[in-house]
Amino acid sequence: MLISAASLPAAAIAVSPKAKNMLHVTNCIRPTESEFSRDVVRGLSADVKTLPSRWLYDERGSALFEEITRQDEYYLTRAETSILRERQSDIADFVEPGAILIEYGAGAGVKTELVLAGLRDPRGYVPIDIADGCLAETSKRIASRFPSLWVRPIARNFLDVFEVPFDGSGGGRTGFFPGSTMGNLTAIEAKTLLTQMGRHLGDDGRAIIGVDLQKNVDTLLRAYDDSAGVTSAFNLNLLERINTELGGDFRIEQFRHVARWNEIDKAVEMHLVSLCDQRVTLRGCTFHFRTSESIHTESSRKYTSESFERLARSGGWRVAEAWQDADGLFGLFGIIHS
Ligand code: AVI
Repeated sequence: MLISAASLPAAAIAVSPKAKNMLHVTNCIRPTESEFSRDVVRGLSADVKTLPSRWLYDERGSALFEEITRQDEYYLTRAETSILRERQSDIADFVEPGAILIEYGAGAGVKTELVLAGLRDPRGYVPIDIADGCLAETSKRIASRFPSLWVRPIARNFLDVFEVPFDGSGGGRTGFFPGSTMGNLTAIEAKTLLTQMGRHLGDDGRAIIGVDLQKNVDTLLRAYDDSAGVTSAFNLNLLERINTELGGDFRIEQFRHVARWNEIDKAVEMHLVSLCDQRVTLRGCTFHFRTSESIHTESSRKYTSESFERLARSGGWRVAEAWQDADGLFGLFGIIHS
């Protein structure tokens, strides 16, 4: 909530908290502000403070995320990789021979190599990722390992509206969206992405989607609050990023990383909880934090086969195949556009 608005007329301050926040946002944002700045000011001005999880991934955040995937408690990456290894030939059967693989949010493309190695005569690979440095490296590595592949990287946020180029051969296309990133999207974003994938992949197009499965809450919470403190550093790094890039004065030691289970949304949430009553200033705005007030920085939704099937249907897809690891922790679904 706004606590200092020196440049606002007194009449503007005497309005409801919600309207006050709106005034605050309008007052602080200049037309040249970056998207990051806009999201931060808007998110910290809301009644329930929140920051979009995509801003967790600056250079240090991405390195910390890679480290999270190696923590004992973070079972997701190991479980999904084991499915890709164990079910490599089932996955290849699901994907038509000669298909182009289109990967949404490709990152380092480590899992992609496992899939491509199992496919029959894959024709092409189209990685989509907003981080173009990583995209170029991934494309180069995959092109050199699979020299006959037509590789066409697309440097875009996969939630934007864009077209996927054709290689002119008219063969099948398969989408690939591993890693449970689907769980970090809001319901509207997830549906929008599935609809856009349907447009890219066409009627009868196929896709392979990885999602984390619902399980006992202790296991889930431990995965998002590892004993080495890597997830905590990953979450707190967002405040460091705001200090560095937006000139904020967050005192990092006065916030604590907390993982919570949201039973209604079936999601693990990451929060940054204020340890005292404090004020933070950035971009000419001052934000007040009460003791125990939190900033919600990420939701990680967990699915059952049924809830994933409902989601797929909402975006125009039907589930044709469902694969799980030996412990039933993670799900990989083969879906067909219908
Ligand atoms: C990228 N994404 C799937 C991770 C997840 O599990 O939701 C991000 C993450 N946040 C904390 N730990 C990992």
